[in-house]
Amino acid sequence: MQIDYEAVQARIRDVVRSEPDAPRALERAVSEIKAAMPDYTWVGIYLLQGGELVLGPFLGKASPHTRIPVGRGICGAAAAEKQTIVVDEVSADERYLACSLETRSEIVVPIVRGDRVIGEIDVDSDRAAAFDGRDRAFLESIAGLLAEQVG
Ligand code: SME
Repeated sequence: MQIDYEAVQARIRDVVRSEPDAPRALERAVSEIKAAMPDYTWVGIYLLQGGELVLGPFLGKASPHTRIPVGRGICGAAAAEKQTIVVDEVSADERYLACSLETRSEIVVPIVRGDRVIGEIDVDSDRAAAFDGRDRAFLESIAGLLAEQVG
């Protein structure tokens, strides 16, 4: 399926900017992202609280990882490095903390305000290597929008 990333991004920008309530803006972003992207099996947002990533809104199976210390897992690594991490095959990455047995690939995009990580967008796919440069640019732009709104 052909995805018009720019159209989806513009729509999410409008939705997020028109939502003054920060928790609700996060929830709506998750729901728009999930609805637009068929390969995104699990979409969630973690917020950094006292050195831990705490799971906020998500869509997909319930995850056992509702609190992840910075530095642990792929989520914790992305927060520690302040950089997007893309994993094409999670079983080959020893940092990976399993959420669902079906997950094959993952992208984690930090939400950075100033020079501080305030949270991150985490997406899992049941397809190996599901995330390319367009997904990365798309999610990084959403993370930028959320950084304006939250924190
Ligand atoms: N896989 C993540 C944990 C979060 S679940 O995917 C929702 C990690 O390795 O940090």
